[in-house]
Amino acid sequence: MTGEADIGLDGKRSIRLGVNIDHVATVRNARGGLHPDPVRAAILAAHAGADGITAHLREDRRHISDRDIDRLMAEVNLPINLEMAATDEMLAIATAHKPASACIVPEKRMELTTEGGLDVAGSYDMLKPYVDSLRLSGISVSLFIDPDLRQIEASKKIGADKVELHTGSYVQAMGEDFDKELARLRAGAALCGTLNLEVHAGHGLNYDTVVRVAEIPEFTEFNIGHFLIGEAVFVGLEETISEMRRLMDLGRRLSYYSKTS
Ligand code: PXP
Repeated sequence: MTGEADIGLDGKRSIRLGVNIDHVATVRNARGGLHPDPVRAAILAAHAGADGITAHLREDRRHISDRDIDRLMAEVNLPINLEMAATDEMLAIATAHKPASACIVPEKRMELTTEGGLDVAGSYDMLKPYVDSLRLSGISVSLFIDPDLRQIEASKKIGADKVELHTGSYVQAMGEDFDKELARLRAGAALCGTLNLEVHAGHGLNYDTVVRVAEIPEFTEFNIGHFLIGEAVFVGLEETISEMRRLMDLGRRLSYYSKTS
């Protein structure tokens, strides 16, 4: 059951779950055929309570393909968040498709996954035209950054609609470092609140790590992929998404009670 505390003032749940379906495509591509189909997974995720679908069209097309993006836009009845590198090729694809949002990420060919956030402060002049062009096409722009106050301030200044704070270091931290990384996320989210910059989180989140981040009241969306797709092998995508949703709502409820007690 969804509690009152999970509902924002607009009547919607206060943290959205964006399901990243990249790794359905990773499994499909392992055999070069059509199965499993990431678009089918996106449709199932929508039925299971996802609030949006995220897909990263990488320069090397290692998982999601151009055809997947065409089909996601045509067949899925949820907002699509296109993760993309700041390149002219990706800008042309984004502006042709006009997804609800685009999240600009740093991309290196040899990396296993997106390692670290964008250096918005150091690449301001390079990034600015991409932010402006996407926004001019009516696409809401997110920047994937580390929870670093300088990068958050630069993201506000460059005109992004929102930022997504990289949770990779938090998820991997142990002991004292765990508290430190959680405090960085908390401070980053609080600064976004002060700057009136919408703030999301993502990377590596799983059942064990999601509740503490959901307790941070400024976060409005989590984008989660690898864990959900991996866990779905054992219990199915619908059950996995429902459990993640339950834990996100639990974290948000805990933050509500800690504010009121
Ligand atoms: N957010 C961004 C910007 C990402 O690049 C990724 C990984 O593609 C994710 C969220 C999801 O991370 P994970 O697959 O580890 O849940």
